[in-house]
Amino acid sequence: MVYRFSGRMGRVPESFLDELFRVSAVPGVISFAGGLPGSAYIDVEGLRDAARTVFSEDGRTALQYTTTDGYLPLREFIADRYRRRLGLPATPEEIQIVNGSQQCLDLVAKIFLDPGDAVGMERPGYLGAIEAFSLYEPVFCAVPLVEDGPDLDAFAALVREYAPKFFYGIPNSQNPSGRTYSQEKRRGVAEILEGTETVFYEDDAFGELFFDGKPRPPVKRYLPDLGIMSGSFSKIVAPGMRIGWLYAPEPILREFNVAKQAADLHSNFLCQVILHRYLATHDLDAHVARVSAVYGRQCRLMCDLLDDLMPPGVTHTVPEGGMFMTAALPDGVSSMDVFREGVREGVAVLPGVPFYVNGGGEDTIRLNFSAVGEEEITEGMHRLARVVRRLA
Ligand SMILES: Cc1ncc(COP(=O)(O)O)c(C=O)c1O
Repeated sequence: MVYRFSGRMGRVPESFLDELFRVSAVPGVISFAGGLPGSAYIDVEGLRDAARTVFSEDGRTALQYTTTDGYLPLREFIADRYRRRLGLPATPEEIQIVNGSQQCLDLVAKIFLDPGDAVGMERPGYLGAIEAFSLYEPVFCAVPLVEDGPDLDAFAALVREYAPKFFYGIPNSQNPSGRTYSQEKRRGVAEILEGTETVFYEDDAFGELFFDGKPRPPVKRYLPDLGIMSGSFSKIVAPGMRIGWLYAPEPILREFNVAKQAADLHSNFLCQVILHRYLATHDLDAHVARVSAVYGRQCRLMCDLLDDLMPPGVTHTVPEGGMFMTAALPDGVSSMDVFREGVREGVAVLPGVPFYVNGGGEDTIRLNFSAVGEEEITEGMHRLARVVRRLA
């Protein structure tokens, strides 16, 4: 049978995530390949209590349809947190609840991109964004991400030559590299975009997870009318609830709301109400501080083991927060070979290739340090070092 799928499906890069999840789930394999927050730090009891209260006090409302923009008290909570933590003048009217911040990637691309339009990205860039944007058939233009953020000369040239509808970046603890923009780079990016029509789409999936607990100023602070930000409760409360948001100027949010309504009417209202009840009765700051401290320890351990165990030629980023780092392999060692051999040795990593839009990344791997604890990190890094030494 021939199914006549749309041309756009052919434009999505082939993903080996399926293979990866299959492999990572094999018993005995220690996986640094996925992107899960640590399951031990999901407050199951707190969420259960919040759910009980909602069902007994507010069940009929929470189980009804609602408006597309989302539960007002939750949007108020998010706007208030922006004001308090980041000094941004956010109002609930500028917040739209979405089904995980992944949905922002789809809907922002949907409202901005026509086939052939330029979209700016970091190189390497977030795999999930590349997949989501690809469905709208853009031309990808990528700017190298150096240690302290995008290469500003390349960024300026890209904006000048291609005038992308938007540039998508992750200034805080980027996925996959773990890199964080310096203050100068944040200002520099804003200065280059000021006066243009290129929107800066700031994906802030990890901004709460700095190991030193100190928030970094968002690019949007320097670029109020051209900056949009997505955020998520996935990494700080629970990804299974699928609650994220977009914070954007009103004209953008109006279009976004139309696209959101057409896609799914509204995000899961029951989860929004339960989540809000949870947030209203628990100390999110204390929870985030605890989780960030654990991830910081696990990250340092992984860095130390990479330094101690790997053969010459292996280098790695040193994240200030988040859940990921990238390691570069010695000359001639392929990340796909490390992936295949690693699985045989009982350790899974993610090859860098799918994070590069126009080719590259064959000699890098992404490592996750949030999903497994210190004992498994130690054992897994020993296994990985054996594999890389064999291949080097
Ligand atoms: C950079 C980045 N953005 C967005 C997402 C999507 O997360 P969610 O849809 O759970 O908010 C992820 C998931 O790992 C991510 O790494």
